[in-house]
Amino acid sequence: MRFPTVLVAGAGQMGAGIAQTFATSGRRVLLFDAAPGATGRAFETMRRSLEKLAAKGGADPDEVLARVEPADDLAPADLLVEAVVEDETVKVELFGRADAILPPGAVLASNTSSIPIGALAAATRRPAQVIGMHFFNPVPVMALVEVVRGPETSDATADAVVALAEELGKTPALANDVPGFVSNRILMPLINEAVWALHDGVADAEAIDTIAKLGFNHPLGPLALADLIGLDTCVAIMDVIRTGLGEERFAPCPLLLEHVAAGRLGRKSGAGFYNYR
Ligand SMILES: NC(=O)c1ccc[n+]([C@@H]2O[C@H](COP(=O)([O-])OP(=O)(O)OC[C@H]3O[C@@H](n4cnc5c(N)ncnc54)[C@H](O)[C@@H]3O)[C@@H](O)[C@H]2O)c1
Repeated sequence: MRFPTVLVAGAGQMGAGIAQTFATSGRRVLLFDAAPGATGRAFETMRRSLEKLAAKGGADPDEVLARVEPADDLAPADLLVEAVVEDETVKVELFGRADAILPPGAVLASNTSSIPIGALAAATRRPAQVIGMHFFNPVPVMALVEVVRGPETSDATADAVVALAEELGKTPALANDVPGFVSNRILMPLINEAVWALHDGVADAEAIDTIAKLGFNHPLGPLALADLIGLDTCVAIMDVIRTGLGEERFAPCPLLLEHVAAGRLGRKSGAGFYNYR
């Protein structure tokens, strides 16, 4: 088995899903988060998800969860998958520390939505072993992994991560290291334009999402999807793409900024464009 022990850093909505997916594949998972209580909440999220999947014939939740160990800090592993907040300074610091703690042969992967892999690789002495492994939400059910090669990522690292994604039952697709990669370069303008439509009074949130769902055959409307991703994460991604490409068309709509400033971050905070309480 490739990468028998995986360290997942960040136990938010993505980290929990990533940890669950690796543990379901039979791997040992170490789960670390800097915020007190975050790993405990991740275990609750994983259990709820695994119980739903078990009802449809999925793996035994207790067996899967027995492979996940909470960790107090970064720890040695064959692979790091970083899923902390979408903030370049935080990720760069984490990659520098991980480089000192993980063995020299380990691969350091980031689940970043938009931040250049080259910037994270530059914080390490192993840029050939740094790569983007971008999962989608909810990780246990979404099939895609966008694999992002940094400027110095080796063929061996890219090949191993592509093969790993396949072992997890996912479909990998390769993208180059340009801010936002492929997925968010397409998705964020769609979400932002939906927010502008709401801001400009073109329609209410339900109507905007109904039009996208039934008109474009999308499973979720863009406003509901933004709530699922997290409105803070959407703003962070738009800022990275806007700054990185130098294009104002990626600037977040003021209504999105208002929600984030008010702590309405989407599902994870209980309210966003919709109320989840
Ligand atoms: N939300 C999505 O749909 C989605 C999809 C793909 C990729 N991503 C990316 O995944 C990453 C995480 O997103 P999320 O939605 O899980 O966010 P989240 O807000 O749910 O979780 C982030 C977690 O990171 C932790 N954290 C912050 N700084 C840390 C540090 N220095 N060390 C350890 N833990 C730290 C926080 O305590 C929090 O638990 C981001 O880079 C995001 O862009 C998100």
